[in-house]
Amino acid sequence: MSDTETMQVVYRSDYRPPTFWIDHVELEFDLDPHNAIVTTKITVRRNTDQPSRTLELVGEQLKLLSVSVDGVALNDDEYTASSDLLVLNDLPARCEVQTKVAISPVTNKALSGLYQTSGNFCTQCEAVGFRRITYFLDRPDVMARYQVTIRGDKSTCPVMLSNGNRIASQDLGDGRHEVVWEDPHVKPCYLFALVAGNLKCHRGSFTTASGRDVALEIWVEPQNIDKCQHALVSLQKSMKWDEDVFGLEYDLDVYMIVAVNDFNMGAMENKGLNVFNSKYVLASPETATDDDYLLIEAVIAHEYFHNWTGNRVTCRDWFQLTLKEGLTVFRDEQFTADQTSAAVKRIDDVAGLRAGQFAEDSGPMAHPIRPESYISMDNFYTSTVYRKGAQIIRMYHTLLGQDGFRRGMDLYFRRHDGCAVTCDDFRQAMADANDTNFDLFDRWYSQAGTPELFVTSAWDESAGRLTLSMRQSYPDLAGDLPGTKDRKPVPLPIRVGLLDAESGAELSQYNDVLLLETESADFQFEGLDRQPIASVLRDFSAPVRLRMQRSDDELAFLMAHDTDAFNRWDAGQTLATGMLLKMAQQAADGQPLDEPKLFSDAFAKILTDDSVDEAFKALAITLPRESVLGQEMDVIDPDAIHTAREFFRRSVAGSHRDQLTALHQSLAADGPYSNDQQSINRRRLKNVVLAYLVSLDTPETDQIAADQFSGADNMTDQQAALAILANSNAEQRIAALDEFHRRYHGDPLVLDKWFAVQASSSRAGALSEVRRLSGHSGFTIDNPNRVRSLLGVFSVNQSVFHQADGKGYELLGDYVLLIQSGNPQLASRLVSAFNSYRRFDTGRQELMLRQLKRIASEPNLCKDVHEIVQRALK
Ligand code: ARG
Ligand code: ZN
Repeated sequence: MSDTETMQVVYRSDYRPPTFWIDHVELEFDLDPHNAIVTTKITVRRNTDQPSRTLELVGEQLKLLSVSVDGVALNDDEYTASSDLLVLNDLPARCEVQTKVAISPVTNKALSGLYQTSGNFCTQCEAVGFRRITYFLDRPDVMARYQVTIRGDKSTCPVMLSNGNRIASQDLGDGRHEVVWEDPHVKPCYLFALVAGNLKCHRGSFTTASGRDVALEIWVEPQNIDKCQHALVSLQKSMKWDEDVFGLEYDLDVYMIVAVNDFNMGAMENKGLNVFNSKYVLASPETATDDDYLLIEAVIAHEYFHNWTGNRVTCRDWFQLTLKEGLTVFRDEQFTADQTSAAVKRIDDVAGLRAGQFAEDSGPMAHPIRPESYISMDNFYTSTVYRKGAQIIRMYHTLLGQDGFRRGMDLYFRRHDGCAVTCDDFRQAMADANDTNFDLFDRWYSQAGTPELFVTSAWDESAGRLTLSMRQSYPDLAGDLPGTKDRKPVPLPIRVGLLDAESGAELSQYNDVLLLETESADFQFEGLDRQPIASVLRDFSAPVRLRMQRSDDELAFLMAHDTDAFNRWDAGQTLATGMLLKMAQQAADGQPLDEPKLFSDAFAKILTDDSVDEAFKALAITLPRESVLGQEMDVIDPDAIHTAREFFRRSVAGSHRDQLTALHQSLAADGPYSNDQQSINRRRLKNVVLAYLVSLDTPETDQIAADQFSGADNMTDQQAALAILANSNAEQRIAALDEFHRRYHGDPLVLDKWFAVQASSSRAGALSEVRRLSGHSGFTIDNPNRVRSLLGVFSVNQSVFHQADGKGYELLGDYVLLIQSGNPQLASRLVSAFNSYRRFDTGRQELMLRQLKRIASEPNLCKDVHEIVQRALK
């Protein structure tokens, strides 16, 4: 760690209001890549609740040039300053503080604060990047009005943007020009943004429900100007949806989105000026897949929804992050469900939750959705805060219904608009608006770990009564983790339905949401003629691991008949999981593997079922991911899992080869590319079917993939065929990879795909390929998307990353050390791949520990990586 950086732990319980408020901020930027000058005037007012005459402004790597109070320059003895702290003593109750600092955007590789990307200036301030721009009260409860003046070269910075409205501009005569922006809304500094450079604008507009015209502007590098229409339409849909569903209108005359190539996260909701990773803006059928299109729509919506849930009402302190992120993820999930298919969206989200969040929640980084402490806040932009946080919001929605939830939201805005508040405030608004009590929900905010829900059923033939006995508990976690002591039962809304065991028909009078608030309870269903089949935890109504003894036949029955699409899919996953785990054990023991007969039969039935769409079919026949299977083993055996899953797939494909070939053929016969929902669904199914076919490892099936690759008129089909070939022994594999590279090496987002398909391949020798690719001329550690495409994808490729000789661990360790000094946030994401080490055999544990210790002993370790590694080693 560098000596200016402190490894201080920040605790939620230490929250104190600031000693001063800031009412107004005037920023002036004289842009220069090496020596940008930032002049800041802040009008401060003593907080009468916290009387103090001392104002402590934080900074990070700043060079202070001057400081004055009420226009009088301070002498050296009237303040103390370092590159990360400026302390002013004996201030009057109100005054204006002016500071001037110098910063260097071009050497800022951390991509936090003011930095350069593809020659343009841009900022990222959440969570604590503003202090890298100027000395400030860099905390979200300090909300102020901003005026921003930007001066830059007319040639390199023809466009200069900031939050709010452009109120003035002038030519400065010396080859430079100036623009002034004013944001009429108060905001915390993490929502400040500045962008300057050579950008082109794709324009559109939106008229709000109350008749206000809003200019919509998507700013991109000139060569990308024809890839913005999908983002624009996504924005318009989002604006309309938030009006229709929550009655929320946009509140400025202009909404700007800027796409940049170097960005640590997905996107940022800066007031009126969102900055996006270009991956979540740019799209054309030739360069973006259907998944990319969907993600762009979802991320645009997410950032737009933040304008109310995040910006108008923000967080009091960073421990409350899920207040805005959990709620906004919930809102974007609902939005996507409304645009596409609610069932498919729910399945996709839960699959992601289980793969990512459940794993996080059972390892050394387990934390409550409202964490208790952090060293680096950037480490807590986690799937727990985001995705699990969204599931907690969903439970209020499930219990209250859409109308009750809306009442709660309305009250939340009525009470807290323009304020920085807490998760408790949100919970209270939901309860008060509905005359109910959500006190027990507090446990969801303070406890870590994924609850297990044990369900048993008992049938009383003479009484015609089914009893479901439910019990919840938390599994023990290794180590002394925050939020895991004395955990209490949490409120669980459990959606349940009954099916007639003969016809499979829904017994709709028994549909219900049961509420389990205690450790255990019995729920009874009376008046039944014969023993029904229960469908429990429909729509995944609570974020738990369901533990229910069910026979394979019962699961196959649910897979065929459940009217709840989520549970229909989940029954298939549970069935496949049980069979796969048994096969993995056989593989580990050197035994012959069972044929997956029951699943294979159900598989064929799903494919010919006219009652479900192609996207659902694609999901239903997709086997659980290797990492999800691993979570179900006492000791994860990556090789046995891989062997079992490959065998399973090949066996199912072999049993239905003709049906699959014909199905692929008919799906491939669709006309030219179209992006209507049905075509998207059909492509999704087609490409899952293609993967099954190619698993057969025959020249004929390889040729189907090669033909699809060369004949595709869209990136979805092309990339899918390439990924399948890259994971195969097909003789066309190398030629396809070369061809793809030749065609797309000039387009960074498509080149990312070329790296990613190879990093996700699990064929023999895949690991040395990844190592070789890290030396490829197209690879660079300066671009986070490129790093994630190769090393991020590889680190979740279970059988390759966990290769028994530890070479995968070594590769990742090398890059964590290489990246951490320049970009701590990126390095700390990568190093998290070691968090699961306790779940593996002692040999692998040793090898992972060796890397963790090697990283921990690095003399200049950044605090982000330090925090993750220390928690892992504890
Ligand atoms: N608020 C952004 C979002 O919408 C994420 C920003 C994360 N920034 C960071 N440095 N971790 O999700
Ligand atoms: Zn967000």
